[in-house]
Amino acid sequence: MSTNIESHLDETRLFPPSQGFSENARIGSRAAYDALYRKSIESPEEFWSAEAEELQWSRKWDQVLDWSKAPFAKWFVGGKTNISANCLDRHLDGPRKDKTAIIWEGEPGDTRTLTYAELHEQVCLFSNALKNNGVTKGDRVIIYMPMVPEAAVAMLACARIGAVHSVVFGGFSADSIRDRIADSGATAVITADGGWRRGSIVPLKHNVDEALNGQGAEQVARVFVLRRTEQDVAMQEGRDVWWHDAVAGASSDCPAEELDAEDPLFILYTSGSTGKPKGILHTTAGYMVGTYVSTKYVFDIRDDDVYWCTADVGWITGHSYIVYGPLANGATVLMYEGAPNQGTKEADWGRFWEMVQRHKVTIFYTAPTAIRAFIKAGEHFPEKYDLSSLRLLGTVGEPINPEAWIWYHKTIGGERCPIVDTWWQTETGAIMITPVPGAIPTKPGSATLPFLGVDAAIVDETGEETGPNEGGKLVIRKPWPSMLRTLWGDDDRYVDTYWKEYQEKGYYLAGDGARRDEDGYFWIVGRLDDVLNVSGHRLGTAEVESALVSHDTVAESAVVGRPDEIKGQGVVAFVTLKSGIEPNEDLNKELRNHVGKVIGAIAKPDEIRFTAALPKTRSGKIMRRLLKEICAGGKISGDTTTLEDFSVITSLQGKEEG
Ligand code: WTA
Repeated sequence: MSTNIESHLDETRLFPPSQGFSENARIGSRAAYDALYRKSIESPEEFWSAEAEELQWSRKWDQVLDWSKAPFAKWFVGGKTNISANCLDRHLDGPRKDKTAIIWEGEPGDTRTLTYAELHEQVCLFSNALKNNGVTKGDRVIIYMPMVPEAAVAMLACARIGAVHSVVFGGFSADSIRDRIADSGATAVITADGGWRRGSIVPLKHNVDEALNGQGAEQVARVFVLRRTEQDVAMQEGRDVWWHDAVAGASSDCPAEELDAEDPLFILYTSGSTGKPKGILHTTAGYMVGTYVSTKYVFDIRDDDVYWCTADVGWITGHSYIVYGPLANGATVLMYEGAPNQGTKEADWGRFWEMVQRHKVTIFYTAPTAIRAFIKAGEHFPEKYDLSSLRLLGTVGEPINPEAWIWYHKTIGGERCPIVDTWWQTETGAIMITPVPGAIPTKPGSATLPFLGVDAAIVDETGEETGPNEGGKLVIRKPWPSMLRTLWGDDDRYVDTYWKEYQEKGYYLAGDGARRDEDGYFWIVGRLDDVLNVSGHRLGTAEVESALVSHDTVAESAVVGRPDEIKGQGVVAFVTLKSGIEPNEDLNKELRNHVGKVIGAIAKPDEIRFTAALPKTRSGKIMRRLLKEICAGGKISGDTTTLEDFSVITSLQGKEEG
């Protein structure tokens, strides 16, 4: 069930939205989309500013876009606003005040709901707690939390006072936290004693302690600790403070800081093609407008919707489509702490569907890897529950194979719900290519057409648009409000990574390969660089390689992806050991755990293959293409004349057969 291009090429089935869905949608026909899209591309500034006017500004912008220092963009120049005020205060004057903002469910089954007024109060209290503990505008704050309402509260509180949050996914290791603290120069950390995952407790505070013991984290003056799982944790006098103590003495009055449109909002680290993760920087107003507008049209969100995005706030999807976009729209958001296959007491693949039934979820947004896991678990799980509340489904993170799409459509969507297959990235901040659900007939496996205001294209090496069904590189030809502004502390790498390739044309290089079919629909194939997509999460091969090489026994390693039925891609590491060291099962296990410790469990290789040598060119470059082909079990193709020693390949292939 690989996401191969061949199956896409055969895919011609067309699924128009139902008449009922279209009639009630904001954009209800292809013609309406075409007209709006054309206008949004011909005069993007008009389009974006009309949308931005729906939000609250304490000072209106003087200029919509300043692109004079491209690729360093400024949007809504001169405008003053606050995204926390737009997600909260903006809703308090009307009936949304007492509307549920967050329905939360913990893995053990405990639940809480917060109205907009209550969420606002929590955010104000914690904003003051931050201030009382010396956190001020511009300071960087690491958030390393379980999926509890306080994770959203922490983000919104940082945004409220102008502190720059950097959320680190709870599955990352102490070393990964330390790298992010050091790179961002964070002075405070917000964490919890632990979080529930698959029936066990993730030791979050313990990991933070370990991170803070190392070099690069000396500047951290305060650690806020939420009590969640109640086990004992060490509290360091003078540095650590319990969340409940910090808010106990705080005032609930905290007007949102008036921020400049371009004040930094957050840094989110993501993998690139070198070993060091990139700190993607998003700023206040453009990101706010991008997430607000896309949530409104792509999910066609309504006041009576119960919206559930199953991502973790540690990823961009959680930032944009659990917290900022839906709350800016005044939506009711369901938030769940645990694993998809964990019931309140024991493993249960019905957990999600039981929750859909009980909370009457209307919009459900998840990842293809989860869908594939559900298919494997069996239809009898969803079939036990009433899923008729659902009216719209979405996917994100990787290409969805048509088989999985059809299963999602039938088994979860009851053949009634449109599916929005949304292509975007940490860098783009918001959804870029997607069906607008009331307007665009879908094809299983295609993200269909660009979102409003997004000038996406597939181009060849020279930047010319390729013809129908000719593959090429995916680029964005015009700036958009929620685009990243730079890489934190590394303007040069920002320019090199995204803008150098099509410098003259001024195109943003996404790093994905894709094609457009004869109807103009986009089919995303996957990354063109050394970035893997494991369960919808980006993982740099170089990161895993340097983790392996940091182990005493390893001389050299090369990491490649191989097709994986559930995860999309699995991680295979070829490893050569230092002389005198013999490979064995224990070492294999130890190396896998070592990678888990250095990066996090998601990076653990699925397989480690010890080899006497790696295939290299005469100039010493590892020929990853050959390794990939070996892993995929296929024949070695293409040119191997630059290979230094062909016997390396024969012996690697020999292993494959043995
Ligand atoms: C991939 C996640 C195909 C793509 C929001 C992109 C997708 C990378 C899709 C970004 C999709 C994301 N179809 N591929 N609908 N959505 N991707 O930064 O390779 O974690 O470049 O952002 O995921 O991953 P990121």
